[in-house]
Amino acid sequence: MSDTPHNQKLFIETVGCQMNMLDSELVVAALRKEGYQLTSEPADADTILFNTCSVREHAEHKIYSALGRLRFSKRGRPNQVIGVIGCMAQKDQELIFQRAPHVDMVVGTGQLAQIPEMIKAAREKREHRLAISLDRRDATRQEISDSFQSYDPLRDPEMRPSPYQAFVRIMIGCDKFCTYCVVPMTRGPEQSRPPRDILREVTQLANEGVKEVTLLGQTVNSYKVTQDGKLWRLSDLIMAMHDTPGLDRIKFVTNYPKDMTDDLLEVVRDMPKVARYLHVPAQSGCNEILKRMKRGYTVEDYRDMMQRINDIVPGCAVSSDFIVGFCGETDEQFQKSMGLIREFRFKNSFIFKYSPRPGTKADDLLADDIPEAVKRERNNLMLDLQNEISEEDNVAFIGTEQEVLVEGPSKTSLKHETDPDSPATQLVGRTRCDRIVVFEGNRRLIGSLTKIEIHDLTRTSLIGHIVTHEVQHGSAPSLLPILG
Ligand code: 5AD
Ligand code: SF4
Repeated sequence: MSDTPHNQKLFIETVGCQMNMLDSELVVAALRKEGYQLTSEPADADTILFNTCSVREHAEHKIYSALGRLRFSKRGRPNQVIGVIGCMAQKDQELIFQRAPHVDMVVGTGQLAQIPEMIKAAREKREHRLAISLDRRDATRQEISDSFQSYDPLRDPEMRPSPYQAFVRIMIGCDKFCTYCVVPMTRGPEQSRPPRDILREVTQLANEGVKEVTLLGQTVNSYKVTQDGKLWRLSDLIMAMHDTPGLDRIKFVTNYPKDMTDDLLEVVRDMPKVARYLHVPAQSGCNEILKRMKRGYTVEDYRDMMQRINDIVPGCAVSSDFIVGFCGETDEQFQKSMGLIREFRFKNSFIFKYSPRPGTKADDLLADDIPEAVKRERNNLMLDLQNEISEEDNVAFIGTEQEVLVEGPSKTSLKHETDPDSPATQLVGRTRCDRIVVFEGNRRLIGSLTKIEIHDLTRTSLIGHIVTHEVQHGSAPSLLPILG
């Protein structure tokens, strides 16, 4: 077994949100620069990392179970280093070593840059290593902010899951403190990255062939930075990156309803590369529950926002998140959330059963009094309603022509492909309003904007075929016939 990182094997498991996916991409890139190679087999790995999520208890259970299965794994590989990184590391800290003493290092979201050094140190001397940020109650805001370092090293094109799509972090942390949510604790105070750093990164990505960037922030539309005496909001940032050569599409997630200002909606309306799609979680359709969640808006405020979205950007797709079975939620209150879905006909909704999180206000002060079976039932009812609405609204797309950014082979074709060298395959992409489209086409279309006529649908996707009568625009290659 070698002590140098050359030919060392790295296994990483990532759960949670896009922010975690980006963090893992960057950590892997840093370790590959040191000579690590990725493996998909934990048993073969010299270093095992779990990039974790704390938003719901279930995600944490899964990680503790995976750690449990590794209890004796070092017997076969005494040099092996096991690390828990990300949100659970910041939240559970020493507790992880107590529950899983075979873990070597626990690294919070604000210390990811230290991982390569920490792995080396762990291999030299066996002891528990902890690198985390300050607790939100333990110091001044500035001190706490300084202890959460945004991790945005230079990007490695080889490490992106797709060569044509990239996440770009524009802010870290959150200051909203919704009573159910652990994110302000695990990701620290809200801090926006300087525009010049973000713009440099977007230009670099576009030069490397990236066609679509998704700007990431927990409350992305709260982005606010003063640089050289000028205030930059998200709308300014998008305008500044819009004409980056090679870039075809710009998305941004997740939006906070109260911060959805008209200047941002006007940018969505006016700038052709910006997706006509907004993810703006409502969480509940009942004012008492929203108040208990400390969301900072009422149903009426949310309705006003939806009105402005529809007035300024007609046809804009909106998706939402909902929590069902929050503390004290009656059946009537749940029905108000169902009413909100009926009223606004979201493109899709992510639905979650309330999961009490230690360290949050709701967990401290409110009883988790809705039985699991009721939460499950409400979850299913809401999912059925949303699916029905999504499907009904997708019917309106039949017969229309959509500009699709082609992402890659569809899941089905990946599963059943007999000849991966064959140019014709089933491809998947997204419309400008973020709807999934599946169609037959040439692999060379991957990464291009392609006109697709929709002729059918499934529960989750539109099905179409390539339109052959029109010349494409943007940076798409010229139109190719379907081979096969
Ligand atoms: N329980 C259930 N769902 C939660 N979310 C955040 N915290 C919790 C929790 N404690 C959901 C919210 C948020 C999404 C990312 O996760 O709907 O928008
Ligand atoms: Fe959590 Fe609320 Fe912040 Fe979203 S806005 S990350 S739900 S605290």
